[in-house]
Amino acid sequence: MKTKEIRFIISEFTDIFELNLDDQKLLEAARSVSKNAYAPYSRFCVGAAVELDNGEIITGSNQENAAFPSGLCAERVALFYANSRYPESAVKTIAVTAFNNGKPVLEAVAPCGSCRQVLAETESRYKNDIRVILDGKKNIVLLENAKSLLPLTFTPDFLK
Ligand code: THU
Repeated sequence: MKTKEIRFIISEFTDIFELNLDDQKLLEAARSVSKNAYAPYSRFCVGAAVELDNGEIITGSNQENAAFPSGLCAERVALFYANSRYPESAVKTIAVTAFNNGKPVLEAVAPCGSCRQVLAETESRYKNDIRVILDGKKNIVLLENAKSLLPLTFTPDFLK
């Protein structure tokens, strides 16, 4: 038997103004688009903004449905639209924010497992690390890649 330790590094900030200017702009875009969330059931409004290597910023918000599983998270709305609009462009950075009943979440928001899976595949699809910015009132977390959010990832290699 062997044991292995999986580690990853995060950077933590206490204010948006500690981020570089591009990241500030991206996070502001995520905060702004969270207002477009359709979340009448959870009242949890999420905004995501994706920066592509062609300079475009694509945003998305969560879209719920009375048939609950039919809704989609903000991250996947943004990522899927970005990849369908600009299939040749790698995703450089994603910023995510959330408001619970109108109030910003306290701790940096944590993307759900399905969004982590899609982020990981987007990263491997474009062979390009995706920086991840997670917004919270108390802290803003920055990760240098998305796969660290999902250790032991299910990758396309399994399907070969
Ligand atoms: N949600 C997101 O949009 N992103 C996440 O990473 C976590 C959850 C949405 C889904 C649902 O509309 C609401 O937040 C409550 O789970």
